[in-house]
Amino acid sequence: MSGDTHVTWHDHNVSRADREQMAGHSGCVVWFTGLSGCGKSTVANVVDRKLFERKIRTILLDGDNIRHGLNAGPTMLSDEHGEDFAERFGLGFGAMDREENIRRIGAIAELFCSAGLVTLTAFVSPYRQDRDLARRLVVSRGRPDDFVEVFVDAPLEVCEQRDPKGLYKKARAGEIKNFTGIDDPYEPPTEPELILNSGAAQPDELADQVVAFLESIGKIPKA
Ligand code: ADX
Repeated sequence: MSGDTHVTWHDHNVSRADREQMAGHSGCVVWFTGLSGCGKSTVANVVDRKLFERKIRTILLDGDNIRHGLNAGPTMLSDEHGEDFAERFGLGFGAMDREENIRRIGAIAELFCSAGLVTLTAFVSPYRQDRDLARRLVVSRGRPDDFVEVFVDAPLEVCEQRDPKGLYKKARAGEIKNFTGIDDPYEPPTEPELILNSGAAQPDELADQVVAFLESIGKIPKA
C-alpha cells in the first residue's frame, strides 16, 4: 500500500473563524483568469492596494512570480537539484504542467483562505477543469461563497497589441510553443462570479468592481 494513505487530517487549535473575528473580515479566494496580457495581475494589484488601505488582510499570488519559486521550471531547478529532479518537478506550459501549476496554487490558496486572508490569484489558468478542481477544493474545505472566479475578458487582439512582455511576438515567430491564445487553448469560464471587460475600462475601475462584489457578498465590510 502506498505511504500516502497513512496520513491523517487533524484540525488546528486556532480556527478560521477565530482568525476572521480578529481581522474583522472573511477569507476567500479571488481567482482571476484570462489571457496573458489581459490585465489580471494589474487589476489584482490594484485590488490588493485598495484592500490593504482598508486594513484587510490579503495576499497576492501571480503566475510570473510563483513560477520563480514554488512552481519554477526545470532550468531554474537544475543547478541546485540536478537534472532528474528538475525534469520531474519543474513546471513548463504543457497541459499537464499547467494542471499541476493550478493544482498547487489551488491548494495554497485554500490554505491562505483558511487563514482568513483575501487571497488574490492571477494565473492564466486556461483549462476549465483545472479551475473547477481548485474551486471544489476551496469550497469543500471552506464555504460555498469562498471561491470568486473573475474572468478578465479582453479580446486576443487587445492582449496581443499590448504585448507587455513581447511574448505574443515571440509566439507568432514560433520562438515560444504552446502559447495560450496562439497555439494553445483558453477555455473561458461558463459561470464566473464576475466578468471584467478589460478592453473597455481602466484597471482602477475594474478593481472597484471586484471590491464592490466582495462587499456585496459580505466578505469584507462596506467602506
Ligand atoms: S498557467 O497557464 O499555468 O496558468 P501562468 O499564469 O502560471 O500560466 O503563467 C503565465 C505567464 O507565463 C504568462 O503571463 C507569460 O508571461 C508566461 N508564459 C511563458 N510561456 C507561456 C505560454 N506558453 N503560455 C502562456 N503564458 C506563458
